[in-house]
Amino acid sequence: MTSRATIIGTGSCLPRRILSNQELETIVETTDEWITTRTGIKNRRISRSGEETSKLAAGAARQALEMAGLVATDLDQIIVATVTSEMTMPSCACLVQKELGATRAFAYDVNAACSGFVYGLDLAEKYIRAEPDLKILVIGAETMSTRLNWQDRNTCVLFGDGAGACIMTGNNSGRGMLASQLYSDGRLFDLLKINCAVSMNPDLSLADHDGSYIKMAGRDVFKYAVRSMEKAASMVLDKTNLTISDIKLIIPHQANIRILKSLADHLGTPLEKVYINLDKYGNTSAASVPIALDEANREGCLQENDLLLLCCFGGGFTWGAMIFRW
Ligand code: UT7
Repeated sequence: MTSRATIIGTGSCLPRRILSNQELETIVETTDEWITTRTGIKNRRISRSGEETSKLAAGAARQALEMAGLVATDLDQIIVATVTSEMTMPSCACLVQKELGATRAFAYDVNAACSGFVYGLDLAEKYIRAEPDLKILVIGAETMSTRLNWQDRNTCVLFGDGAGACIMTGNNSGRGMLASQLYSDGRLFDLLKINCAVSMNPDLSLADHDGSYIKMAGRDVFKYAVRSMEKAASMVLDKTNLTISDIKLIIPHQANIRILKSLADHLGTPLEKVYINLDKYGNTSAASVPIALDEANREGCLQENDLLLLCCFGGGFTWGAMIFRW
């Protein structure tokens, strides 16, 4: 039987500080009622010193290693999906490698915004298909709080910090990744973006630069998110000759409860099949799918051979879906 890329360990790490909707009411002109009904979010986590992106990433990785029964020196490769590393260079993945002491691994970052973790899994799968014994650590880690304009109620109430991780290796039992489909459309870059920090080259400064904050055309993003995730999910179902009723659990990017309800409607599946934890953490960008995956895994939502559908959507635009036999 062909070897497939299988997830053998998951982990997550959240900052200790909880920021509630009620507390946000004292920071910007908003209400718990607005945030809850429009987004489903009640709380989010905010990092403090010692909880930088690489530190959260390493915390999640340690849990995943423990579950997989591996030590850091067993790792061959480290992929970190992030848009909020504490450094532009070196990569967050190299900081994680140092933190873990994963001396055998090579390490690099992936930037596909909120879709980054799913892109990372896709990359890892390609390596494992070529070399099934590889042990690859894939992490989604973000400190979105460092890129929020805390005066902009359109965005600052939506995001949170955290990290999730998994370890993949080859397995020839028939379990593992069955199909994956990724997409991007750079023509829509302007609808969801974070400008880079001020340029030291005045000729290359952005004309519209008013801070390296996240900016989003919420309504447009909403529409594309539902349509794109639905199309990507349908594509991987077609590729595997499965239907939505075969799927045990759907773990989508956690941005907004209304997006998830609409996605469930479009896919023709009950909302109970969709894993939801955005009420606790808000939108943690690339960390949202792996944090949810780790929670679902530890809660026992997935039994051996269950079919799992992941779908993602983010800035770029980037989106995609994949199916695992757990
Ligand atoms: O992870 C990447 C993907 N990102 C997403 O998927 C986000 C997608 N978009 C969304 O989730 C939603 O569009 C939002 C939650 C961002 C916004 O919800 P909406 O129902 O689309 O609201 P809106 O932007 O149309 O704004 C409705 C009203 C506006 O007031 P007016 O113009 O109707 O008077 C806003 O100014 O709500 C106002 N508003 C707020 N009011 C209280 C916007 N933000 C807030 C707020 N508190 N925090």
